[in-house]
Amino acid sequence: MLKLVKVSPEYADIFLSAINEYRTDTAKFGLDSIRQLLKTVDDGKFDEWLEKARKNDIGLDLPDGWISNTKYWLLDNDEYIGSFTLRHDLNETLMKWGGHIGYIIRPSKRGHGYAFKGLELVLAEASKRGLKRCLITCNTENDASFAVINKAKNIYGGEQLSDSHLDGFSEHRVWVNTVKENR
Ligand SMILES: CC(C)(COP(=O)(O)OP(=O)(O)OC[C@H]1O[C@@H](n2cnc3c(N)ncnc32)[C@H](O)[C@@H]1OP(=O)(O)O)[C@@H](O)C(=O)NCCC(=O)NCCS
Repeated sequence: MLKLVKVSPEYADIFLSAINEYRTDTAKFGLDSIRQLLKTVDDGKFDEWLEKARKNDIGLDLPDGWISNTKYWLLDNDEYIGSFTLRHDLNETLMKWGGHIGYIIRPSKRGHGYAFKGLELVLAEASKRGLKRCLITCNTENDASFAVINKAKNIYGGEQLSDSHLDGFSEHRVWVNTVKENR
């Protein structure tokens, strides 16, 4: 059974037993956070990372100008599938790059529909927080992510904005409603 859980010590072993796959990940995009996290694990600081995630979720210990956010793991039958982040608001930078929701699926689980299913669960969490729509962005060359976003836009309703340009990167930006239209 698929479930979305907040990152926490309770599920740490499940996550840690899976993440070595990311060391040889050849994806062209979206690897920055997971690479940083691998370094944190290697440095023996994973517990600190979990505590920071807990605090950032409730708006504590955030660098100036940063938005509070919730980090999730997507599990299927207690196996780690991927990681999602829900930012609780937007700022000027996130409007151009990053948006409300970020995600990565572990390499061996890609192409099975998990990104879209996980995104649906995160949209439901966003809705519970009172967000009517979420901005989701991806590099204009990230076909896999754009396919996921478009699928969500087609099913939930939404609107594509003009691409943004930041530090030489171009980003597709799409608003996706958090509740399906016409239900
Ligand atoms: C992007 C990513 C999360 C997609 O995960 P996934 O679980 O493989 O995606 P899904 O299986 O849910 O696919 C959803 C849709 O995208 C399509 N899709 C998947 N990979 C694709 C690709 N490489 N090119 C085009 N379409 C693709 C699927 O066909 C599916 O559409 P369908 O249901 O109409 O057939 C995954 O490739 C990943 O982790 N990449 C590295 C990190 C990353 O890029 N994160 C996003 C940063 S914005």
